[in-house]
Amino acid sequence: MTNQQEMATTKKKASFTGSLGFVLAAAGSAVGLGNIWRFPYLAAKHGGGLFIIVYIILALTFGFALLTTDIAIGRKTGKSALQAYGDLSKKWNFLGALSFIVPAIILTYYSVVGGWIIKFATDYIVKDTSAIAVDGYFGSFITSNVSPIVFTFIFLALTAIIVFFGVDKGIEKFSKFVMPGLIFLIIGISIFSLTLSHTDASGVTHNGLDGLARYFIPDFSKVTVQSFFQLLLDATGQLFYSLSVAMGIMITYGSYVKKDVNLSKSVSQIEIFDTAVAILSGLMIVPTVFIFSGEAGLQNSGAGLMFNALPKVFEAMGPIGKYIGILFFIMVLFAALTSSVSIMETIVASCMGFFKSSRKKTSLIIAAIFAAASIVICLGYNVWYFEYTLPNGSVGQLLDIMDYLSNSILMPIISLLTCVLIGWLLKPQTIIEEIEIGGVKFKKKGLYTVIIKFVAPVMLALILAQALGLTNFLFK
Ligand code: PFF
Repeated sequence: MTNQQEMATTKKKASFTGSLGFVLAAAGSAVGLGNIWRFPYLAAKHGGGLFIIVYIILALTFGFALLTTDIAIGRKTGKSALQAYGDLSKKWNFLGALSFIVPAIILTYYSVVGGWIIKFATDYIVKDTSAIAVDGYFGSFITSNVSPIVFTFIFLALTAIIVFFGVDKGIEKFSKFVMPGLIFLIIGISIFSLTLSHTDASGVTHNGLDGLARYFIPDFSKVTVQSFFQLLLDATGQLFYSLSVAMGIMITYGSYVKKDVNLSKSVSQIEIFDTAVAILSGLMIVPTVFIFSGEAGLQNSGAGLMFNALPKVFEAMGPIGKYIGILFFIMVLFAALTSSVSIMETIVASCMGFFKSSRKKTSLIIAAIFAAASIVICLGYNVWYFEYTLPNGSVGQLLDIMDYLSNSILMPIISLLTCVLIGWLLKPQTIIEEIEIGGVKFKKKGLYTVIIKFVAPVMLALILAQALGLTNFLFK
């Protein structure tokens, strides 16, 4: 291809074919490990019901405002994050650069976790459930030298192929095929999990109803002011992660949306989709772990819940556990792929705009760079293993540090600055006008204005303070 032909290809505006394509692709970005792995763990940690109620309220207010803002900025400017902020206001170009860093950090470790998922999916196909449920199985896999890197590469290659084929033929097509399948699998496994029952060694039996109660019924007896504050912050942080906001992704996807799409309606659909999958994922995991491993099993945190606790559950299910294990990890793989595609697309689109390079060339180069970067993260579990105490008190390795930097520090900062830019400098009307294009009625514009100017900045400042350890004294 000559340089001129290449320029012509870059100039042709990429777009989703319609509203459905956009909603499914954006929901695909939102629905990911955050919903299936992080939400159930947090809901379990905070005793279930109350966390779910608070999360839903936050999604309809705070989440709605942030998602609307990102998507509208994207469609208004027609640019991806790196260039979009500068387009709104020249002096704010730095915010584009800042939000470019977030997906770049996330992709290094998201692809590693994606690799772990492929490993577990293939294990369930070829191995016995008991072999995978052995204590230390997950730990010995991630600390091995070569295998995690190989699986990470497979995951990255799958992601890069979809990005390589572009917006309508790659991302949209893949999401249209995967998202309905995902919903079908989650509902199926959730219903199945409620039919289970198990008697432990001490003779105590838990059935689906007990598990359901553990997940949904709030336990107010343990709620204190401090615990509620912590719950609020965890729910807000989770919302960020889950909706893929404040990292340029939704700006990039927004830039591919045609002007005749009703953004207000699309935002609601994406939010409902994402929240429903989070709640259903909890329904699929929390009662099941409770039935088979009791309260102790549930307190297993973070990565442990999916890779250590669940294999024990699949083993305890008997022969059918193998098939549920296969379906479960394939479903998680789908969810993780639609998200990693959106993360890589954001990086690729920003670089295409910056270097004026073609999609195909840029995707290949970005895939190679991130293959190298993810090796470093994999080695963080063996050759370069260390334990580091973060300012918020949690102890982590390289992967956790990357997660902390991107999600706990950069995302609140970017969002806070976006609220200042939109709420106070350019004024909410900038976004409202974009939503109302073509005579669309933006019913929640009053709510939007209050949140973007007042509520969101306060919440974001609190999250940032917590991440920096400034609220630790409250929890002594
Ligand atoms: N929203 C997706 C998820 O919930 O997994 C993708 C994602 C966005 C992952 C942001 C991680 C992240 F920090």
